[in-house]
Amino acid sequence: MTRRKLIAGNWKMNMKTADGKALAEAVFDKCRPGLPFDILICPPMSLLGTIAGMNRSAGAVGAQDVAEAPKPAGAYTGDISAEMVKDLGAAYTLVGHSERRTLHGETDAVVRTKAANAIAAGLTAVVCIGETLAERESGKTLDVLRTQVNGSVPPDATAGTCVVAYEPVWAIGTGKVPTNADVAEAHAAIRAELGKLLGAETADALRILYGGSVKPSNAAELLAIDNVDGALIGGASLKIEDFWGIAETQQ
Ligand code: PGA
Repeated sequence: MTRRKLIAGNWKMNMKTADGKALAEAVFDKCRPGLPFDILICPPMSLLGTIAGMNRSAGAVGAQDVAEAPKPAGAYTGDISAEMVKDLGAAYTLVGHSERRTLHGETDAVVRTKAANAIAAGLTAVVCIGETLAERESGKTLDVLRTQVNGSVPPDATAGTCVVAYEPVWAIGTGKVPTNADVAEAHAAIRAELGKLLGAETADALRILYGGSVKPSNAAELLAIDNVDGALIGGASLKIEDFWGIAETQQ
């Protein structure tokens, strides 16, 4: 199965209007139809509607999170439902990023509810998972990943409605990356677990991204590893040279 690579930028809590629009414009300018990979940018919610509404011939826009609330509208002060995100013109949303899990106490069950809400609203959910340094050092990485896959990925997910992003927590924003062998082992374990949950055919087609300190200088190597179907990029997605430098390794 050849899976089309997905190069995704997670802007996190960065960019005000002028800078965000300029960066999105620079990305969309390079997103010509016929590119051999897919591009996704996930700006902060404050810019989601503006950027999702911008003219482009290719390139998707996603949110960084959606509400856990059981209804698409109602008394949930401060929350933004998946339906609202879809209504703004977004096609994707991240869910369960490690910063949400750590800073907002999101459990696998919360993440799965958010992913299910996203899918029900017609979005593709990018479900983020990954082990902490302590978990890696105590040899628990693969167990943690299997538990997170089972707990966070809705059992009716398909390759069209779900993407998994493997992001070792200790590699996010630190400049550290796992060895190629460790990435290969993690991605293979994730795909095997997805196979048990969703069936072999779906698991084979579903994209598994690597995230954590991806930059132009290591992207070609990381993206060539078996079962790595793209990248989720934080820091390096904030500069067009870096973001496109990563994408271009896949030309
Ligand atoms: P980083 O972040 O590329 O800055 O390590 C990745 C992420 O958090 O998605």
